[in-house]
Amino acid sequence: MPDQLSPDALAPLVRNTIFARAEHIHYFRTVGSTNEMAMQAADAGAEEGSVFVADEQTSGRGRGGHGWHSSADGGLYLSVLLRPNLNPTDVLWLSLITGLSAHYAIDLVLGAPPDLRWPNDIMLGNRKLGGILTEMAADSTHVRHVVVGVGLNINQASFPPELADIATSLRIETGRDWPRTEIAAALLKSLDREYRALKTGLLANISGSIIKRFERCSSYAHGATVAVEEAGGFTGQTVGLDARGFLRVQTQDGVKTVLSGGVRKVAGD
Ligand code: BTN
Repeated sequence: MPDQLSPDALAPLVRNTIFARAEHIHYFRTVGSTNEMAMQAADAGAEEGSVFVADEQTSGRGRGGHGWHSSADGGLYLSVLLRPNLNPTDVLWLSLITGLSAHYAIDLVLGAPPDLRWPNDIMLGNRKLGGILTEMAADSTHVRHVVVGVGLNINQASFPPELADIATSLRIETGRDWPRTEIAAALLKSLDREYRALKTGLLANISGSIIKRFERCSSYAHGATVAVEEAGGFTGQTVGLDARGFLRVQTQDGVKTVLSGGVRKVAGD
């Protein structure tokens, strides 16, 4: 039986954060997509810090137009609404700080840090433990709102055959169940800290810290031999993140910048 993700359980655990108002935590037993709900609410004027969380999604969205497996057997499906004063080209920072927040939250609760695969995947070994989907409404120079959705595989005992080789859960890895509410709270607390720093620090000052910490938390950032599915596909060795937060890969034709993801490790020479 999944643990209860109700607003009354979650709100006291995230006191003093922008996510703390129980009336702005929206819990669904089943919903199409928490990102979709959050985007609709944002259009209707919902407040920054609103949280949308579900036990099950019937049309969970993943990156690149993919779906996100969201059955009611112990996953965490959570989206937050943010209204940052950012240029659309800087929204990548929100994805990176959310990845860091998920990394810190899982480390705190589990006692073992997951890996981060640029830009948005939370990994245990070669399998995906979670993912982040950032969606926004913006004009050419200004972001109106951003919805950051996080899917974490926590208590699933198994996955459908097509995902079994690429997905894992905390339960599969450790043989026991984990409290989703505690993990959700740790994630929101960490994201609150990161987001406040991003908003208050000049982006120019804070971006260096995000890059350094992301590189420290990711075995993909430096010296990994990777295949990248963009620009016709290329392979090479990662050489860190650039000043805008994009991953750089040293290829035979020089250093290439990965813009959208689709990075996987391949055996080196
Ligand atoms: C990915 O493809 O790796 C991103 C997956 C993001 C899934 C989460 S689950 C909560 C939120 N609602 C959605 O429909 N998608 C995101």
